[in-house]
Amino acid sequence: MNRIEGRVKVTGLATYAAEYPVEDVTYAFPVQSQIAKGRVRHVDAQDALAMPGVLAVLSGEDPPPLASGADGELALFQSREVAYRGQIVAAVVADTYENARAAAAVVRVDYDSDDHDVSLRADHPGLYKPDHVNPAYPTDSEKGDIEAGLAEAATVVDVVYETPVLHNNPMEPHAALACWDDEGGLLVYDTAQGTTLSRDTLAQVFGLPKERVRVVSRHVGGGFGSKGTTRPQAVLAAMAARVVGRPVKIVLTRQQMFDVTGYRTPTIQRLRLGADAQGRLTALEHVAYEQTSTLEEFAEQTATPTRIMYATPALRTAHRLVRLDVATPSWMRAPGECPGMYALESAMDELAYALGMDPVELRVVNEPETEPDSGLPFSSRNLVGCLREGARRFGWEHRDPTPGVRRDGEWLIGTGVAASTYPARRRPSKARAVVEDDGDFLVQVAAADIGTGARTALTRIAAEALGVAPERVHVELGDSDLPEAPVAGGSMGTASWGSAIVRACEELKSDGKEGLADTTEEVRGDAAFSRHAFGAQFVEVRVSSVTGEVRVPRLLGVFAAGRIVDPKLARSQFIGGMTMGMGMGLMEETLTDEEFGGFLRRDLAQYHVPACADVPDVEAVWLDERDAELNPMASKGIGEIGIVGTAAAIGNAVYHATGHRVRELPITPDKIL
Ligand code: MOS
Repeated sequence: MNRIEGRVKVTGLATYAAEYPVEDVTYAFPVQSQIAKGRVRHVDAQDALAMPGVLAVLSGEDPPPLASGADGELALFQSREVAYRGQIVAAVVADTYENARAAAAVVRVDYDSDDHDVSLRADHPGLYKPDHVNPAYPTDSEKGDIEAGLAEAATVVDVVYETPVLHNNPMEPHAALACWDDEGGLLVYDTAQGTTLSRDTLAQVFGLPKERVRVVSRHVGGGFGSKGTTRPQAVLAAMAARVVGRPVKIVLTRQQMFDVTGYRTPTIQRLRLGADAQGRLTALEHVAYEQTSTLEEFAEQTATPTRIMYATPALRTAHRLVRLDVATPSWMRAPGECPGMYALESAMDELAYALGMDPVELRVVNEPETEPDSGLPFSSRNLVGCLREGARRFGWEHRDPTPGVRRDGEWLIGTGVAASTYPARRRPSKARAVVEDDGDFLVQVAAADIGTGARTALTRIAAEALGVAPERVHVELGDSDLPEAPVAGGSMGTASWGSAIVRACEELKSDGKEGLADTTEEVRGDAAFSRHAFGAQFVEVRVSSVTGEVRVPRLLGVFAAGRIVDPKLARSQFIGGMTMGMGMGLMEETLTDEEFGGFLRRDLAQYHVPACADVPDVEAVWLDERDAELNPMASKGIGEIGIVGTAAAIGNAVYHATGHRVRELPITPDKIL
């Protein structure tokens, strides 16, 4: 199948949040804090109010009321405290976008400024142990005796890896269009990964019953996690619309997105691995240091994949956080697994070299029977199959492991491998299926298609459940008035919504007219297995001995991710994730401004992501795996696993090419020469 909405998207007819035609619309533009920590003393709006077309200036001087208890990033103007540079401290509403933006530039904000601290360090005195890490994992885990395991090891690797601040950069900027009706009901067109959650959040922030709020996100131009929670633009649009009594539209600039739509926390990760002479692990320890803000706690689950990867008698993982004067970190594709597996899979490569062992074989000999941390059986686990199939396709058997010896003119050539994993979970969802007047079928669910092709995948799932051609099924999504559904996140969308759709279609078949499903009870029974997708990433790099530039002529990912619902969409998800992993490995880095707070490199001219020419040959394939324990489709999620492991495989290949181990991402030329 081709994407159902493909034609309307490429012809510009698909309507995104900022594009709904609304009468009498006005525009808001945020004013951002110029200090990293302190208080807003005074906001002088006089000059701004005298500018053409200006309707209002919102700020903490006369804060429009919100319900108490809102997330600190959403409680706009409710406090005079400044938690980070770039925080929204005022906003201008005007008749045009240009007038709002021009007036925002002349709003004068005076501050009382305090000393700030924006630097993550592994020895920071403010480090603490959070109660849990996201979404609800234990902060630490410990099994066996790490010190004893290291003492008896034939070989020990003790290394520290660092990953920088990373930013999601969806093509569609964060935007919202808010309208209040005469009865005090709120309609928001928002860029959201979930309309049910966005509705619930806005209802809470404005102290409204859920029934009075509707969120519509029919098309979303990418999210990767940055639209997984409600962002300030939606609150600001709704707040401003109430103040001026007209609809308000906000489109954040790319630079504003870097400040207020979340980012991946930087990490410092210490790995200690011990192994016997045959390569069997005797100890594995993974400690992650990360940051959060003074507003909210966000504890990335960086070391959690280490709990499930390899058999070892001694296994310890820990997370430590420090509250800095920064924006709150948030979700970014494969939060936890992505930075955590970068460090673990790089350290495994170092261990393979220390042992003089092939890195594929090292992983194979440490394959566990059951999940190392919990002891639960895996619902299915085909990591070894992915490694073997990848090695075969990539031509791994002819590889000479010696680093720094293959040369083509100025170019040093190397190959690397890393494992990949991501949890296969689902959340409760509702769905409705009905027969339409013409005999076709309408399927409704408040799901979000954030560019993944969810609409198309769900159409296939419904058609299969009904036993009819996909052309006779119409899926309606992206509206909180539809049956409640979880966000497109955690690689759980298709599994969650699809389960509810299958049940609704089954009920429709027996009822003849309508089927309504709620999978809350069904999902509750999911706990008996360890549920994960696995993969293996193989990479070839060419490193210039003159400039230090790294090129990636070949990327191969082999995945075992349950039954693949739609091969074309799945391939796009995998290679999209792998390409994003390549960006993480070689290019992406947001610098923190230590002197003034906030971020440097706040646009795509400076925050580099791979372009087509950077990725000449990226291939994703999968094993035939059907996991009947997971959901009626026997599928696992595929949105995130593609990014996991790619950066490690690239770093491992760079070592193979050059003999130089870079332990700080991204691997830019200055770190190689
Ligand atoms: Mo994704 S970070 O699970 O939205």
